[in-house]
Amino acid sequence: MKIITTPTQPFSDQKPGTSGLRKKVKVFQQPHYLENFVQSIFDTLDISAGATLTVGGDGRFYNAQAIQTIIKMAAANGFARVIVGQGGILSTPAASHIIRKYQTFGGIILSASHNPAGPEEDFGIKYNSANGGPAPEKITEAIFAKSKTITQYKVADLPSININAIGETDLGGFTVQVINPVADYADLMAELFDFDAIRTLLKSGFRLMFDGMHAVTGPYAKEILMSRLGAPETSLMNCEVSETFGGGHPDPNLTYAHELVDILYGSDAPDFGAASDGDGDRNMILGNHFFVTPSDSLAIIAANARLIPAYRQGLAGVARSMPTSGAVDRVAKKLNIPCYETPTGWKFFGNLMDAGKVTLCGEESFGTGSNHVREKDGLWAVLCWLNIIAAKKQSVEAIVKAHWAEYGRNVYSRHDYEAIPSETASGVMQHLKGQFGTLPNQSFGKYTVKTCDDFSYTDPVDGSVSTGQGTRVLFACGSRIVFRLSGTGTEGATLRIYLEAFEPDVNNHHLDAQVALAEMIQIALEISELKQRTGREKPTVIT
Ligand code: G1P
Ligand code: ZN
Repeated sequence: MKIITTPTQPFSDQKPGTSGLRKKVKVFQQPHYLENFVQSIFDTLDISAGATLTVGGDGRFYNAQAIQTIIKMAAANGFARVIVGQGGILSTPAASHIIRKYQTFGGIILSASHNPAGPEEDFGIKYNSANGGPAPEKITEAIFAKSKTITQYKVADLPSININAIGETDLGGFTVQVINPVADYADLMAELFDFDAIRTLLKSGFRLMFDGMHAVTGPYAKEILMSRLGAPETSLMNCEVSETFGGGHPDPNLTYAHELVDILYGSDAPDFGAASDGDGDRNMILGNHFFVTPSDSLAIIAANARLIPAYRQGLAGVARSMPTSGAVDRVAKKLNIPCYETPTGWKFFGNLMDAGKVTLCGEESFGTGSNHVREKDGLWAVLCWLNIIAAKKQSVEAIVKAHWAEYGRNVYSRHDYEAIPSETASGVMQHLKGQFGTLPNQSFGKYTVKTCDDFSYTDPVDGSVSTGQGTRVLFACGSRIVFRLSGTGTEGATLRIYLEAFEPDVNNHHLDAQVALAEMIQIALEISELKQRTGREKPTVIT
């Protein structure tokens, strides 16, 4: 095989964020840009002889082209085999499963998650390690360091590979194996869940609606919900994958999944609604006229895990990201299992899972998962809910309200201010830091500040320390406000404000979180001087 070495110069902006390198497609289309980053990944790794690489993406614009480049670079950099999903498509959780199931050396996942897709929109790339999870910070830092000093990259002189037909192509010591992107994942789900019980539930007249948001989960939902579980075709919407995700923003929340929300809050609403995001790792769960916050969803899955075959033996522990509400902490306490609080981003959960310390984990940002893979998993969460409903024979609303009655309710909301000029956003964070000395003991109405700090985390498995993971203002009553800058945006800065109030008496609060949290919202705006500093009257997105 002929290998072509091309001289190049570093780009200064290849620092991976919360979930890999995310940029506009136009940025990735610059000559050498993708190649530089892929070479920086390969230069960081100690690629063993005979190693296999998993490659797949969410099917967005530029996916197919990037995969051709990556395959040729993998061949040139010493991989013996590449496993690729048919058409270049693998959902993020399916990619994680493939890495684990076939024990590949690692994987490259092409996705910008829920960000819009198309020639003017976003693209992304990340490296996952042999455990199936996003590479830890020490590797992503090393990749960034390599990208700053790169001088050349290597591409094998191979013809364009047909990745649309399942099968193997031998290219002289290097093999490309195209696999069915759905089958292995669907088999795994069938092992974890009580498919018979869910099938019976769906036969009994229980109605569901799943929204694939024109993105990667469509084919997975068809195979699992329709073919294997017997849901009618009418219970799936937007399940045809398109390169531009139908021109939409496939983020399953009350703002962007409004088409589904309208159905679940409409006059002939089904019993259950769910959606997944661009690359299939996020989920939103709805009941008939009812929304389940992701933080509550995690807590409820944890509390009812024994109803699911895979977790019948109980949970080793649970974990949540710091800004996620403390609802799951209460469940862990009752179950007498450990609960870990990690920085935002899935990579921190991987170490805990590999060490056997946690079984379930989740984030407030519509991400829930377990140790079956090392990514969050949208359809897995949907199946958790269907399995729990099938076992309890109760509605979504009844299950959530019973949970609140038992544990109390962590009223929760996140307010996002998107595309703020970066300097303005860091000005807000600096201003908050400046008040760490004066805020404690100050009262705002009935709320008195107890402490404020910047969250940092010491990994209990490898001792690594991550600092600057969000500013917390904790109140004496247990309520809290968290301020944090996003690590996934591609335009300016996104400032996230996370609001949480604990309500032990569920009969004594407003169901609508915005109403229940009204005072906290005002306090957040006051102490951050957000309106004055950004000129923004209201958040871009409320979840
Ligand atoms: C966001 C979410 C975070 C999630 C990440 C990847 O990151 O807030 O929980 O892990 O997307 O899906 P952020 O933009 O906040 O850095
Ligand atoms: Zn995603």
